[in-house]
Amino acid sequence: MYKTGLIQHAKRLSHLVSEARMSSQPNVYVTRPDVDISGLELLRKSCNVTTWSKALPVPREELLREIKGKDALYCALTDKIDAAVLDSAGDQLKCVSTISVGYEHIDVQECKKRGIRVGYTPDVLTDATAELTLALLLATNRRLFEANKEVYNGGWKSWSPMWMCGQGLKNSRVGLYGFGRIGQEIAARIVPFKPALITYTTRTARREEATKVNAQRVDFNEMLGLSDFIVVCCALTPETKEIFNAAAFEKMKPNCIFINTARGGVVDQKALCEALESKRILGAGLDVTTPEPIPLDDPLLKLDNVVVLPHIGSADIETRKEMSRIAARNILAALDGCEMESEVFV
Ligand code: NAP
Ligand code: GLV
Repeated sequence: MYKTGLIQHAKRLSHLVSEARMSSQPNVYVTRPDVDISGLELLRKSCNVTTWSKALPVPREELLREIKGKDALYCALTDKIDAAVLDSAGDQLKCVSTISVGYEHIDVQECKKRGIRVGYTPDVLTDATAELTLALLLATNRRLFEANKEVYNGGWKSWSPMWMCGQGLKNSRVGLYGFGRIGQEIAARIVPFKPALITYTTRTARREEATKVNAQRVDFNEMLGLSDFIVVCCALTPETKEIFNAAAFEKMKPNCIFINTARGGVVDQKALCEALESKRILGAGLDVTTPEPIPLDDPLLKLDNVVVLPHIGSADIETRKEMSRIAARNILAALDGCEMESEVFV
């Protein structure tokens, strides 16, 4: 009798201790339950973690409701984090951590004003994204998807000398719009294909980095007029928004192949579609579109000279696992008031 009482008392005590521990732990809201579990496990060791339940972007209303009272937000590029979200969170919010290198979906200025630190995941995804960019470029210029369709629809009648010919990288002129982490790795992967010239357009000179791949800095208009391939790998900012517009496509060579693995917003998509339809340019490979997903009735999807991928630049397993952990470690560091692994400073 006495022993049973003691056991019940001990159980009550342990329950109270664990409740007290939980209530003293920081609260984190995670908008993507489908991130690799290793990141979530890191957070759960010392935080109360609440996650949105579906492997789809969290609805705005749900986000505004669930963020209330949270100390940190673990989000993705599919979430718009603006003043309304920060207001809804409350003054205790210390950190917004995105599992992406792009952070144009976060109002960083508004976060800074409120002393909220912003984490992101650069570097770890650079190689994966550069690799995907090369894959997309090669699939577009050598018409892989178009050719593959012919195998299945009976269009392949025999080997044919000029059928399904594309435009090689060898001896071509390649222009990179953006020459940051990813742009430089794309250039390094293009070099073995023996292009005649690699150029780049940036705000800063980046001379030292350019020497490694023998690239020349040119201005935007020069790049448009010179290039057989234009590869977009810049950040989306107010300056780069729709910089590839009708006037830009007008300046390109008719054999130009346009590759975009940066953000759909860098392109006026209607103008791109018109340039492709009218054969003003030769083709396009897009990993990013506006909107995402691209609607099935979008005119771009009706064109043979376009390859569209569903924003899979960094989608290699180890990369995504590490991105999940970095986003978590960024939160833990911010909550501890320590240096974050990757913090956005603007
Ligand atoms: P980064 O190292 O910051 O490089 C960004 C580049 O954009 C820099 O060279 C920068 O120029 C250039 N840039 C910015 N504003 C410009 C302007 N107004 N005119 C010309 N150039 C400008 O970033 P990163 O790691 O390479 O990533 C680049 C972007 O790729 C990300 O922001 C993201 O949107 C996109 N991304 C997409 C995927 C995907 O899945 N498709 C995956 C990862 C990243 P400076 O050299 O002068 O600074
Ligand atoms: C992907 O698009 C990223 O910004 O990480």
